[in-house]
Amino acid sequence: MAPVVATAVKDSLIKPIDAPEIKEPAKVELGKKLWFDTRLSKSGALSCNSCHNVMTSGTDNLTSSIGHGWAEGPINSPTVYNAVFNIKQFWDGRADTLKAQAGGPIENPMEMASTHEHVVTVLNSIPEYQAEFKKAYNVDEVTIDQVTDAIALFEETLVTPNSRFDKWLRGDETAINDEEKKGYELFNSVGCTACHNGPAVGGTSFQKFGVYGKYMTKNGAIGVGGLTKNKDEEMVFKVPTLRNIEMTYPYFHDGAVNTLSEAVDIMGEIQLDKKFTPEENAQIVAFLRTLTGERPKLEMPLLPNSTEKTPRPAPFKKK
Ligand code: HEC
Ligand code: HEC
Repeated sequence: MAPVVATAVKDSLIKPIDAPEIKEPAKVELGKKLWFDTRLSKSGALSCNSCHNVMTSGTDNLTSSIGHGWAEGPINSPTVYNAVFNIKQFWDGRADTLKAQAGGPIENPMEMASTHEHVVTVLNSIPEYQAEFKKAYNVDEVTIDQVTDAIALFEETLVTPNSRFDKWLRGDETAINDEEKKGYELFNSVGCTACHNGPAVGGTSFQKFGVYGKYMTKNGAIGVGGLTKNKDEEMVFKVPTLRNIEMTYPYFHDGAVNTLSEAVDIMGEIQLDKKFTPEENAQIVAFLRTLTGERPKLEMPLLPNSTEKTPRPAPFKKK
């Protein structure tokens, strides 16, 4: 009899990421076009990709994003990679799903400053887009519902499997070195995994930022408490993913921390009341770098041309 090959995944609160299964390629392809299409914005200058750059980390790597009219965003832009694993979207969880989320930035005056009506008018003025929506959704007139659906289906494909840590979880003992393994053991034993767990190593719960001490910030966001007006939920934020964390600097909702090493010390001190030695800090940072996975290779979509009926962008305020 052939020997049984061990395929079991190691027991861990962190789960490996599976490659995405693309069930509806026409919708995903359409979603990709919309993702990159700046005509969805009022200015004609911004797309989802402006603040969630899938060529880099799925973020803009800015402290806070630059929106319409050079508006300074109120909060750090989270990565869109592996956002599909979040129980809810946004730092305060105000959108339940990716689809519900996608309508927000289009209309946010400080982001794309557009309207759903404008988006639909633009898309319906372009016969090539209409034909693609017909093919994917069997509709003659595009509505915002299909726009957000297609964008969300595209975002579901933005996952990053095959990180070195996942290979190790799946049994490849050589995928991570001793220092990285020590870092993982420490991450687990001190309790980071109580909050950072699941396939995204985060995104599974909302937690107080500052369990053992206050996080000093100039940013005014108060997280879930701002939504619910419940004092106990002030400074409660979604636990962010730690996948590809070496790429998604600067850190925290205020984007105030530039290095992983500082972020790890802050987490130790105010979430776990634990002061790391420089050696321990370096081990955890080394482990965190093993969470960088493979980003999907995307072919740049070619966007259909506007027609004479397409509303023109309005990048500047009329004097
Ligand atoms: C001007 C910059 C900007 C643009 C343009 C933008 N976003 Fe965002 N996005 C942000 C910021 C900032 C946040 C965090 C806001 C918050 O949590 O309050 C965010 C949050 C998100 C999240 C939630 C991620 C998480 O981990 O909670 C998703 C998903 C997302 N955006 C997708 C999109 C899509 C789709 C588009 C295009 C329709 C888009 N964004 C356009 C800046 C932007
Ligand atoms: C009690 C829950 C909890 C524990 C325990 C915890 N974290 Fe966090 N972590 C969070 C929350 C919540 C945030 C987001 C804080 C914010 O920016 O508002 C976060 C943010 C981070 C960030 C920044 C992510 C980003 O994209 O900005 C890193 C890095 C991080 N944690 C690492 C760790 C490490 C390492 C440990 C263990 C030493 C740890 N965390 C323990 C809840 C926790």
